[in-house]
Amino acid sequence: MASNRPDAGLLLYAYAGCLFRVPDGVQPPKAGSLFFHRHVQARAGARVLEIGAGFGLTAVLAAKAGAQVVATDVVVEAVEVIRQNAVLNGVTVDARVGDCYAPIRGERFDLICTNPPQMPTPPGRDRDDPVAAADNGGIDGWEILDRVVAGAREHLNPGGRLLFTIFGFLGRKTAFAKVEAAGLLPSVLATEAQSFPRIGYERLDHIRTLDAEGTLPRGGLPRSVERLMIQGTAPA
Ligand SMILES: C[S@@+](CC[C@H](N)C(=O)[O-])C[C@H]1O[C@@H](n2cnc3c(N)ncnc32)[C@H](O)[C@@H]1O
Repeated sequence: MASNRPDAGLLLYAYAGCLFRVPDGVQPPKAGSLFFHRHVQARAGARVLEIGAGFGLTAVLAAKAGAQVVATDVVVEAVEVIRQNAVLNGVTVDARVGDCYAPIRGERFDLICTNPPQMPTPPGRDRDDPVAAADNGGIDGWEILDRVVAGAREHLNPGGRLLFTIFGFLGRKTAFAKVEAAGLLPSVLATEAQSFPRIGYERLDHIRTLDAEGTLPRGGLPRSVERLMIQGTAPA
């Protein structure tokens, strides 16, 4: 929860010539945020949807590049700060509160992108606070992503693209199968090795049970994790 105390302070993040407010309760930028942002590459004039936009880094920079951006989040504080960060940086972002595709029913986009919560969450460890909303991806990590992928085709223009990040242990082959099943052509747009997330260490035993594609070392603690940007392209 954002604090209203006058002495609470405010985190500011400077990136690519822009300044962003990052209030308490909204996830600060992580390696995954920058990896995601670098590979979104929104084109001028494109209609872009970002699901789970956090404090609006990618959404605002896509708007700066000339895209028409709708940014959503389930956390009300996030949506408020996306609006503020858009104003702060002289652009317009249509920021809406809601789950997955609920805020954009009936609309279509050239690009749908998300760096969603995807940390596998052991049974009984789910919570409903904003920090958990940024990390927890259900038991297998795919809870939100499954809905994003399944709903993409009906919200993409012909030839449009879905972009989403995954941790390597969620499975590249699994991701391709899900994207194909949703009627999109899958590919890997980019990969990057990142430090293994702290919360991942806390959940390592659970994550190992899900690592069907054998991405984690068998013994010892993993030092890094592969991050992938998966692309699904709709038929033209
Ligand atoms: C991993 S954070 C990413 C934030 C930002 N896009 C970035 O890359 O830094 C995931 C975001 O998704 C939001 N979120 C969680 N569940 C969601 C849902 N069902 N629908 C929309 N947004 C959701 C969280 O509140 C959080 O801001």
